Amino acid sequence: MSAAERKESDLPLDESAESAAAENIARALALLNAGELVAIPTETVYGLAADARNPAAVAKIFAAKGRPRQHPLIVHLADAAQLDDWASEVPPAARALAQAFWPGPLTMILKRAAGVSDVLTGGASTVGLRVPAHPLTLRLLHAMRAAGGSGALAAPSANRFGRISPTSAAHVRAELGDAVPLVLDGGACAVGIESTIVDLSRGEPRLLRPGQISAASIAAVCGRPLLCHEQQDSAADSDVPRASGTLAAHYAPQTPMRLVTSADLAILAATAANETKRCGIISHSLAAPPASQHLWLRLPADAAGYAHDFYAALRQLDAAPVDRIIVEALPDDEAWRAVADRLQRALTGAGESCE
Ligand code: TXA
Ligand code: MG
Repeated sequence: MSAAERKESDLPLDESAESAAAENIARALALLNAGELVAIPTETVYGLAADARNPAAVAKIFAAKGRPRQHPLIVHLADAAQLDDWASEVPPAARALAQAFWPGPLTMILKRAAGVSDVLTGGASTVGLRVPAHPLTLRLLHAMRAAGGSGALAAPSANRFGRISPTSAAHVRAELGDAVPLVLDGGACAVGIESTIVDLSRGEPRLLRPGQISAASIAAVCGRPLLCHEQQDSAADSDVPRASGTLAAHYAPQTPMRLVTSADLAILAATAANETKRCGIISHSLAAPPASQHLWLRLPADAAGYAHDFYAALRQLDAAPVDRIIVEALPDDEAWRAVADRLQRALTGAGESCE
């Protein structure tokens, strides 16, 4: 099934669902106007949002997530017409990328406009911008603007810092509980992993975080190849963007995790009955063997399907009584780059205590 077909939230709403949605949007607007936080659905993962023009409200996001203050937030816009309100320089490549991919899972880092709060950018001279492709959140953004407000929501993923990003409203509640007064329920996220981030603030476009929109398709629109994160001029450059999604340990469960080859997983499946430890297993090629004592999750064998289910699977196994999580190695293929990136960071951070 393609990601587009999976967008449950795009289905026409019946009348009662429509009035519930309208009521929730009105509640969300009132909370945002009062400087409170609202969790929002996006096509990638759920976000924890505040009015991007209200620094006191934005500061609450950092407190609720336990996120270091110098880690900048993405600003979600209603449409590309707002680019110039937030960025002081919008190169032609940025306009072309917005035209090609917005609304959609692409975040662009641009030089920030005057008046963009330090709270939001962590003091950086740049700002991250994207137009999310979720009908409920787009509706909220447009409603904010229609009411004379900013029409802009600052929102990181709605998880505690370093932990697994939420891909359903229930995940957000489990993650943040009462720290968020309202979770707008927009169903399961269609993409399931965070947006691609491309830095256009320093000349050559650079890929900071891989995502569903590939480096190749961004390069095709820009008309030149992308530099990757590792090719940055100097780590000591204070203007080098800081991206928590680029930390080695991130998106991580509390249960220890291990990566195994498909061949080793097959051996483990054959000998499962003799094991004393109970493992949670994420496989994309092998079905659960009969009478396995392990908790075996089989994810789709295509990258988009796997990305859709990956965080939910990690979360499920992290909550289950298993000693460790074992993940089957992913195909070594460009299509798997973004999920492989998230898996690697989860492996690095797994088993560490919450910051
Ligand atoms: O798909 C997504 O991008 C989701 C949804 C909610 O939109 N958001 C998300 O936010 O993943 P967060 O905060 O979990 O990750 C955003 C990443 C962080 O690594 C942050 O450091 C980076 O974007 N970022 C934001 N502004 C930046 C800037 N000015 N320069 C460099 N990196 C920036
Ligand atoms: Mg995050």
